Order: sequence, then structure tokens, then C-alpha cells
Amino acid sequence: MSRLQADHLYKVFGRRPEEAVRRLEGGAGRDELRADGTTAAVIDASFAVEPGQIFVVMGLSGSGKSTLLRMLNGLLEPTAGTVLFDGQDLTALSPAALRAVRASKISMLFQHFALFPHRSVLENAGYGLEVQGVARAERDRRATEALELAGLKGWEKSWPDELSGGMQQRVGLARALATDADLLLMDESFSALDPLIRRDMQDQLLELQKRLKKTIVFITHDLNEAMRLGDRIAVMRDGRIVQLGTAEDILVTPADDYVASFIQDVDRSRVLTAGAVMAPPETVFGTRTDDGRELSDARDVLDAAPAAVPEDTPLIELFTPSSTGGAPVAVTDADGGLVGVVTRATLLAALGEPKAAARDTVPGASGSRVTARA
Ligand SMILES: Nc1ncnc2c1ncn2[C@@H]1O[C@H](COP(=O)(O)OP(=O)(O)OP(=O)(O)O)[C@@H](O)[C@H]1O
Ligand SMILES: [Mg+2]
Repeated sequence: MSRLQADHLYKVFGRRPEEAVRRLEGGAGRDELRADGTTAAVIDASFAVEPGQIFVVMGLSGSGKSTLLRMLNGLLEPTAGTVLFDGQDLTALSPAALRAVRASKISMLFQHFALFPHRSVLENAGYGLEVQGVARAERDRRATEALELAGLKGWEKSWPDELSGGMQQRVGLARALATDADLLLMDESFSALDPLIRRDMQDQLLELQKRLKKTIVFITHDLNEAMRLGDRIAVMRDGRIVQLGTAEDILVTPADDYVASFIQDVDRSRVLTAGAVMAPPETVFGTRTDDGRELSDARDVLDAAPAAVPEDTPLIELFTPSSTGGAPVAVTDADGGLVGVVTRATLLAALGEPKAAARDTVPGASGSRVTARA
């Protein structure tokens, strides 16, 4: 179980990187630096990944995702800032100490996972252990276990060219798992896979994560993938993290137009939950339902509601109850107490496009008053 923390990380490619960092700190933009032939790939990135979390980094091509990831395991030295891994500052380690940490505690998985063609699947999966100097028998045992975890039981003796792309990617995952590394860094690891296989791999990763509780940083271009996998998501633009939050935070309150344009195509009904869009119960008190029932208090709302659901219910499950009966869906706590309401208008408003930044209400808040009259 490991915690990862990045503080004020910068990576500048160019001739006088430190000076560039000072200019960036002073408010200079990426474009100004580019004029001197300097690229500010990552600018002032700070975040923490708790043990057992999947932290997703997304952003357009060139926004700095891979550069950020490579600083997290010391493959790239930051121009400024620190990376704390289990309390240890990776940026302060000697090259040898850093290699040792990397070999034993950190695994990296890329988009196109390169297998050794003349080694069996088992040998490929055990490669990380071989590098660590683990003896053959132990290596094979752990690689066999890892292959099973990755869904490749029975393929140990096969050759890489006998596997499909998705299966090869699973071998990569098995290699990462076999070393018992606490930190998994995944750069577009599923992006080259067919959509169905990709979804399969996402499920598998979530399933594994429930059991293994690794600390995972996952890079993707695909927002739906980000939303499925990420406990928290950082959106990068031009080297900066422009928003950091849960999938819901990002859907409900995109920080700017860039983030808003990103989330346009997300299936909001599967990400947003009743708890994220509900309005306070009081907003419907004093109103009537379609069939004339008065809603004066929480009791009335609960009695009239076509369904009572917990806060983490995805909106997609509210359509059917919402379409029957004119009363709002009740959102209840573990004891059945009323904590909020989702009216039909709230539901529809939540699925529409969010406005960027500086919104003072959640989508439900204004809509609910409209339906309350219905
Ligand atoms: N070794 C390098 N030397 C100079 N510039 C670099 C180097 N590596 C990356 N860059 C620049 O840094 C910026 C960020 O690149 P990076 O590879 O981190 O982006 P990315 O978000 O991973 O993009 P993609 O989605 O295409 O993989 C880009 O402008 C890139 O050209
Ligand atoms: Mg990249």
C-alpha cells in the first residue's frame, strides 16, 4: 500500500530550464517560452494518489501527460518540484537507489506492450522478477499467479505471436502484477485495443484493483474510460492541470470551456448519480404532484415518490421511475430518511450540456422548482 504525492512539478525541455521555471512562476505562459525554443511540458503539477486509488490523467495530445508520468518513476528528472513515494523523495535519490525503487515497487505499462518474441508467455510475465534476480522456481510460481489474475490461465507455454493484441496487453499487466509493485503507471495502456476488448480490460483492472489495492496512475485520451476507471481525474491542458476532481465534479462543474468541450460526448446518465444532481427536499414542499397530491413534508414526498433510491444510483436508473407518476424520485440515506429529490426537470437538466465554470447552482437546483409545479 503506497501513497504517491507530487508537489509543484515542472518539466521544461530547452536550454535554460530553471530560468524558464522562474518565468513560469512569475506568470509567463507556455507560448512565450516556446518563442525561445523552450517547451514547458509540465507546469506546476501537484496532486496526491492515495493507496488503492486509480488516478486518471487526461488531456489532448501534447498536454504533458506522458512527461508527467515519467517523472513519477524517475525516468525523467523534474526541472523543479518533488515526487514523494511512501514518504521518500524520489527526486533526491541517487540513480542506483532510484533504479532499485523502480525495479521493486513501480511498474509501467505502455500502449504498445513489447513482448520478447522468443520467450514463452510465462517467461515474459516473469521478466520483471528476472531483472530483480528472483530465482527461476519462485519466478515461475509468481508469474503463473499473475497470469491467472490477468485472465491468461492456460496460456503460460504459448508464444507471444499466438496471442491477440488484447492478450498481449494482458501479459504486460501480468508482468506488472508479478513484481508486486505497489505503484502501477499506465500510459494509454488500453488505447490500442478494440472497444469491446478495451472494456473487458477496464473491467478486469477494476476487479483486480478491488482485490489488490494498488496505487495506479492511468493516462487516457478517452473520457469515458477516465470516468469508468478514475477515482479522481486530472485534466491537463498545455502542461497545466486545469481541473482535478471526481468524474462527477468534472461533469457537473467543468472548470473551463476546454474541460466542457471534453465532456460533451460522455454518457452523463451513467456517470452522474442521484446524489450529485438532487435538490434539497424543501424545494418541493408546498407543491402538488400531477395527480393533485400535496407535498407538505418529507413524509408526503416519500409516500408519493415513484421510487426511493440511494445517493449513488446512476441517473440512468431513474428514467423509468421518473416517467411513471408525476412526483419526484426520493433520494434516501441508509436509514430510509429523505435527503433529496430528483424531479423530471432536474433529470433532464442534468443530462444536458453543462455550462463551463463559475456556475452557482448544480443542474438540479433551478430545474426542480419548475417540475415541482407539475
Ligand atoms: N524529450 C523531449 N524533448 C523536447 N520536448 C519534449 C520531449 N518530450 C516531450 N516533449 C514535448 O512536451 C510536450 C508534452 O509531451 P507529452 O509527450 O508529455 O504529451 P502527451 O500529453 O503525453 O501527448 P500524447 O497524448 O500525444 O501522448 C509536447 O509539446 C512535446 O513535444
Ligand atoms: Mg503521451
